[in-house]
Amino acid sequence: MTKKEFAKRRQQLMDIMGPNSIAILPNAEVSSRNRDVDYPYRSDSNFHYLSGFDEPDSVIVIVPGRPHGEYLLFCRERKLEKEIWNGYRAGQEGAIKNFDADDSYPISDLDDILPGLLEEREKVFYTMGNIASFDQRIVGFLNHLRQATRQGKHSPTEIIELDHCLNELRLFKSSDEIKAMRKAGEISAKAHIRAMRFTQPGHWEYQVEAEIIHEFMRNNCRSSAYPSIVGGGENGCILHYIENNHKLKNNDLLLIDAGAEYDFYAGDITRTFPVNGKFTPSQKALYTIVLNAQKAAIAAVRPGNHWNQPHEAAVRVLTAGLIDLGLLEGELEELIENHSYREFYMHRTGHWLGMDVHDVGDYKVGGEWRLLEPGMVLTVEPGIYIRDLDHIPRKWHFTGIRIEDDVLVTKTGNEVLSALAPKEIDEIETLMAESPP
Ligand code: GLY
Ligand code: MN
Ligand code: MN
Repeated sequence: MTKKEFAKRRQQLMDIMGPNSIAILPNAEVSSRNRDVDYPYRSDSNFHYLSGFDEPDSVIVIVPGRPHGEYLLFCRERKLEKEIWNGYRAGQEGAIKNFDADDSYPISDLDDILPGLLEEREKVFYTMGNIASFDQRIVGFLNHLRQATRQGKHSPTEIIELDHCLNELRLFKSSDEIKAMRKAGEISAKAHIRAMRFTQPGHWEYQVEAEIIHEFMRNNCRSSAYPSIVGGGENGCILHYIENNHKLKNNDLLLIDAGAEYDFYAGDITRTFPVNGKFTPSQKALYTIVLNAQKAAIAAVRPGNHWNQPHEAAVRVLTAGLIDLGLLEGELEELIENHSYREFYMHRTGHWLGMDVHDVGDYKVGGEWRLLEPGMVLTVEPGIYIRDLDHIPRKWHFTGIRIEDDVLVTKTGNEVLSALAPKEIDEIETLMAESPP
């Protein structure tokens, strides 16, 4: 993203905050994997959204209308002996020069400077509950000001949830964000194509995962947006399967749910295909139902429809299909009403997508499902999962199928950002007949 984009976001936030307010946002903490080894660091999404600054031990402070600067960035000082071991730091000069902060201070000065800034303001935009140790510091500053009112100090009167304001901004993607999400969709789709071409009986699930990661990285995505699910056969029926440590078997399906993170934006694609490259008749029958359900749900993604309409469309097609195959018995309307389909379809049809794979934003407003509007991005991901239950004929056992795409709401309908990943039966079979990558 450009500096201009980050500045626009801070301005949008300041417009929401109004005068006499202050926002405080600490970056994510480093998290330890084991002795002397940390997990790769990723900024808190809201922190990156406002700043593009990705160092730990940093705090954004926004003070609308403050004559000496509205945007303050507290961050680590430059220190050669630290930088030799752990890499370059922007320091205060870099924060101002490269990240457009109006002013920047060493993070170690926060306790000295922040109470003075708080004292001048009525409304504090801060989200409690994300980082307990930082919450305690904020409470400490506020208590100190309250106790000092006899000495003429002023303490703020309102605390407002910052995350909620940012969530609403993040729900509507700008044209630069849409470009990044198109790219995330395209790279994620390429990885699925690579996985399809590579897969064959006898490979291990993690070997397929390696192909996916390879494709992400060679396309400039250093990280997946979430741990990939690569589940063959019965593992495809485990919704959050990430062990990925089984051998792929002939005649099984393989369910892959994998997405790249491109410039902090997530792709989230699921494809299901036969390990040996050819669908069996029963796999084909179930797959066609899921595909038709997914298409019906995508068709329901358009401005003016509400959040739940794609889900309702998917449920109708899935339930009708399960009746046709004899897996459900009864009247369509009644089975939908009773949620009978939940035996085979136990999750919802999608979620918001953005910097977080399960992105921020309310799904209901005033108790009603939210209307879809241009600029929103959501996933559409119906599925059917059949375990080895006694009352179900053997030919359906251990079939897990999900098809997931990333869909942008446009002025006139929608755009499928992940369309490059094949999902028609003949397309998949043709692709799998090609030699491995
Ligand atoms: N990959 C997570 C999800 O599909 O919701
Ligand atoms: Mn998803
Ligand atoms: Mn997914």
